[in-house]
This record gives sequence, C-alpha cells and structure tokens, in this order.
Amino acid sequence: MPISDMTTSDNPDDPTDRWAELDGPEAVAAAAGRLRQITNAPSEIAAQRRFLDLLAPGPGEHVLDVGAGTGEITLELIRRVQPDGAVTALDPSHGLLAIAQTAAQEEGLNKALTIDIGDARDLPYADDRFDIAFCHWVLLHVEPPEDVIREMARVVRPGGRLMCVEVDWETMTISPGDRDLVRHIVRANVDRQIDGQIGRRLVSMFRQAGLQNVRVEPIVDVDCDGDQDGWLEVLKSRIPVVVDSGLVSSQEAQQWWSEVEEAVARGDYFFSLTQFAVVGQKPN
Ligand SMILES: C[S@@+](CC[C@H](N)C(=O)[O-])C[C@H]1O[C@@H](n2cnc3c(N)ncnc32)[C@H](O)[C@@H]1O
Repeated sequence: MPISDMTTSDNPDDPTDRWAELDGPEAVAAAAGRLRQITNAPSEIAAQRRFLDLLAPGPGEHVLDVGAGTGEITLELIRRVQPDGAVTALDPSHGLLAIAQTAAQEEGLNKALTIDIGDARDLPYADDRFDIAFCHWVLLHVEPPEDVIREMARVVRPGGRLMCVEVDWETMTISPGDRDLVRHIVRANVDRQIDGQIGRRLVSMFRQAGLQNVRVEPIVDVDCDGDQDGWLEVLKSRIPVVVDSGLVSSQEAQQWWSEVEEAVARGDYFFSLTQFAVVGQKPN
C-alpha cells in the first residue's frame, strides 16, 4: 500500500477520517498498524528516500517532526542527523508517540529523540529553535493548515528548512470505469478528508508564509497490474465511502468493482496517485 490510506479505521463500513482526534488504545493500535503497513511499502520507502534527499537533513542538525505519529519517518530522520543531531517528535496522540519511543529504543536511537504531546497549530517551542521542521501526511487532517506552516516557520531558525509532504487525492486516476462514475469516486475520496486537495496548495502556503527557494518534488505512484503494494485493497475499502457520499449507488459501485476485477484479470487496469513534497527556506 504505497501512499497513505488515511482512514484510521479497519472497518470499511466506517469511512470517517479520524486522524484529527485519535483516541483510545484500540484506535491507536489500528492506526499504528495501518501506518506501518503503508510507510513500509516498497514504493513509499522509495518516495521517502526521494523527499528526504531533497530536504537533506545532515549530521548535527535538530529536526522537528510535526505530527510524527508512530515515528516511521522520525527514525530515518534521526539516522540522517547522526552522530550528534537530534529529532523532536510532536503529536497530539500519546499512544502513537509511545510506539515511536519504543521503536527508537529498540534501534538504540532513543538518546537522539525527544517526544512532545502538542498541537501543530500552536507549537510549544521558542522562535528559531530548530534547523528543520518536517511534516508528513498531517496537513490534510488539520484546519487550518496555514497555521501549521506559520508555526513551523516560526520555530525554525533563519536559513533553516521546512518540508511538507501531502497527497492530493484529486490526482487519483482509475481505469476502467464510466467517466462520470469515476469522477464521482474520486470526488468522494477527496471530500472524506478535511482537505483532500491539500497537495496543490502547499507551494502557495509556503510562499504566503514568507518562505524562499520553494521547490516541489512530485511523487507519482502507478499500479498497472493490480498488485502494486495493495492499492486494489485500498480502492475496495473505499467503496462504502463512495456509496455513503450519495454520488454513486451501491449497485453502480458493485458493478464498477466487477469491471475493475475483470480489467485486472485481462491486464488492462490502471491506477495512479500523486503526492507533493514541498521544501522551502526561512529567510536569513
Ligand atoms: C496519517 S498520520 C501521519 C503520521 C506520520 N507523520 C507518518 O507519516 O508516519 C497523521 C498524524 O497527524 C497527527 N495529527 C492530527 N492532528 C494533528 C494536529 N492538530 N497537530 C499535530 N499532529 C496532528 C495524528 O495524530 C497522526 O499522527
């Protein structure tokens, strides 16, 4: 499963986006399992390498990971700032951060990790404290995302870097399917997030926050065979979301799904989704 299947729920009948207020041990365990599965898919590991190479955290730097969750990327950030750098992981979920801390301990990286409970819209740090502020798959769950970027810019030192990585769900392409039906399916998937189109707005938000040297790395995931990292499974799990939206009837959705399965069997299936990694610099 390459790019974030953003629901925390494993129940396909519950289409709610609940990352914004994750609570309770069961929700935390489900969310942690899903994040692990997604972020460890081969295409996501390749994507992480691309955007972290663009950000280029180096030895000795202090990185803030905003909305770090279970720390899947936090640990890689720590590895990249070794031997004398450090990472601070902030998240509202104590349960997710506890998993991050245990994982860091298991790898012997915990001395370089600080965890803080907090809200990205009101970061509990002094101005200019970090070399880098990083945020991965968080902004589509937070209202308003501009506040997060403004706060990230505040806590980074002059000359320091910010990076946000977000999927734009409207970039999803699928074949087969009736043109209007597929449009409805895409729309239902976009509208289940607080902002499913966040990817396309990152550059503008970075510029409005006064950041310079803003660059974009588009990362496109493609599945032509129906077997690329579980994408077909993600699509199937979205059928209740689509029906729940009222845009597509249950019968239409089931009919479409049969067409998808037939296309996979024939070898003429196509799926793609784009995420955008945006990096910028705080002026000196
Ligand atoms: C899809 S997960 C991504 C986690 C992690 N960045 C990763 O890529 O593995 C979304 C994360 O955003 C966090 N989150 C939700 N609302 C937040 C807020 N207001 N401030 C900071 N983090 C938030 C959630 O707790 C969760 O850890």
